[in-house]
Amino acid sequence: MWLLRYAAAAAMCAVLVAQSPKYSVGRTPTPEEIRAMDITPAPDGTGLPDGRGTSAEGREVYSRRGARCHGAKGEGGDEPKQSPLVGGRGSLKNPKPLKTVGSYWPYSTTVWDYVNRAMPLDRPGTLTHNQVYSLVALIFYMNGIVGENEVLDAKTLPQIKMPNRDGFVPDSRPDVGVKPSAKRRKQ
Ligand code: HEM
Repeated sequence: MWLLRYAAAAAMCAVLVAQSPKYSVGRTPTPEEIRAMDITPAPDGTGLPDGRGTSAEGREVYSRRGARCHGAKGEGGDEPKQSPLVGGRGSLKNPKPLKTVGSYWPYSTTVWDYVNRAMPLDRPGTLTHNQVYSLVALIFYMNGIVGENEVLDAKTLPQIKMPNRDGFVPDSRPDVGVKPSAKRRKQ
């Protein structure tokens, strides 16, 4: 066990040393880069940036940057099918529910946030805000949630009621959502 700890500590030191100015591996992000990442849209749309898109516009981006992993129609990529984006509506009570954006996710703005931060998986954060709006519009269109030419932007996106919106109930645990008291913060 001590050998493992020693190896882990040594590895951590190596990483820290590599990032020191001496070895100039990596760099401090610029304020613009931090600002570009610093987006957390709330379910009511607060925090969504400017931009817009339709599923027709999303199709072009998706075919180049998403279809190879999620399938041409969002059915999921590779065998066994993984990460489907479409389908499964009404299957949540089944022994093998198909959880997708269309069948499971409660808020439209969370889908925007996830695609903006995490996708494409191999190049996260490289989509423009217009591309994210158009890709979300495509995913919603493929799930029958919006029309093909419906424009999604910071105003229209939060107004979309997701099919499984009512599948989620407020967390009734006493301390959820309650700001920790000053005393607890000090603990
Ligand atoms: C236009 C590009 C893309 C879009 C719009 C997109 C969208 C999404 C969405 C909405 C999810 C969440 C699915 C869910 O949990 O219900 C997801 C998950 C995932 N995507 Fe993508 N994706 C894109 C590109 C890619 C690419 C290129 C890859 C592979 C290199 C990829 C691999 C994955 C994987 C593995 C997951 C599951 C992640 C997990 O469960 O933690 N995606 N994607």
